[in-house]
Amino acid sequence: MKICAQIIGIIVLARLLKEVDGKGEISDLESLAKTDAMYTALLKEINSTFHKRPLLAEKNAEFEKNFQTVLVALNLSMYEIATKIDVYTDFTVYNQIRLELEREIFKKLQVAERLQKMENLMPTCRIFFANQQVQLIGSFSQSNLMKLEILNHPGPECENVEVQKIFIAPTSSTARPDNYDTEILKVLAKYRTRPWGKKTYRDFDEKIWNLFMAINSEEQTFKKNALAAFKKYDEDRAILDKALAHRIAEFEKQIPHETNPCRVDLIRLKKELGRAMFETTQKKHNSLVATNYVKTCLNNQIKLFLAMNDLTL
Ligand SMILES: *[C@@H]1O[C@H](CO)[C@@H](O)[C@H](O)[C@H]1NC(C)=O
Ligand SMILES: *[C@@H]1O[C@H](CO)[C@@H](O)[C@H](O)[C@H]1NC(C)=O
Repeated sequence: MKICAQIIGIIVLARLLKEVDGKGEISDLESLAKTDAMYTALLKEINSTFHKRPLLAEKNAEFEKNFQTVLVALNLSMYEIATKIDVYTDFTVYNQIRLELEREIFKKLQVAERLQKMENLMPTCRIFFANQQVQLIGSFSQSNLMKLEILNHPGPECENVEVQKIFIAPTSSTARPDNYDTEILKVLAKYRTRPWGKKTYRDFDEKIWNLFMAINSEEQTFKKNALAAFKKYDEDRAILDKALAHRIAEFEKQIPHETNPCRVDLIRLKKELGRAMFETTQKKHNSLVATNYVKTCLNNQIKLFLAMNDLTL
């Protein structure tokens, strides 16, 4: 039964192809094989181009779904040429639209970035463009439809308005009030990547989150206090981190010259100091105090103490 249907399928398909071909001299099967070879080659090209997913499509479920369809189609026999042609067309159209939308997203991101660098941008627009930036970046991994929606999500106050409307009018000679938004945004931009890379750093995340919340507040004093609190925290953190790094370096220098158990002890303490770099300032401080004297290293106690004496907290 199945074979019968398949044969009918071939005949119908071959006739179709013959009509398209128009010549009629080549045998039906031969022309079917040729068409199949062509579309198989095209599908293979898609596979080899996107086998290693492009960076922007890496977490894109829609892209992945389309790509998997190509893999499935590559597995089909030449008698399912119609499906292969469909899959090839669908993928190509989807991908072209995706690329076009991503070009638009990039353009919009550039505009948002440039505007945010301008000091006299209205605070509401600054917030709008900061949020838009986050949304646009997130949209790379979304479906084409979502990309389109995000791209066409207008900010009536800040987009498609006369350009002078999104900037604060210069107030001749009178001193402008402190613009906490600008300062907060500067700090947020500085710490787009956390100190010491991408490791989990809960305490730091909490502190910077407070600052992030302050941006969305209407209260100037709240912004001012949040900014001051973060700056104080960050200063302390930087000093303690420097001291920790210094001590880790000292231990590293010392370890090869030690024998056990002191050596093992120093290695353990060095690791603890490394972990302390991602802890609260209180814990950083405690770690530094705790490693001031290394009890098992009796022979080197004096040497170590001298080496560390210059590291006042
Ligand atoms: C897809 O491309 C990869 C990498 O070029 C290759 O290893 C794999 O065999 C291809 N798959 C098919 C079905 O052609
Ligand atoms: C292709 O066919 C083989 C053998 O039937 C199967 O193991 C494989 O999972 C198929 N691949 C896809 C992508 O469907």
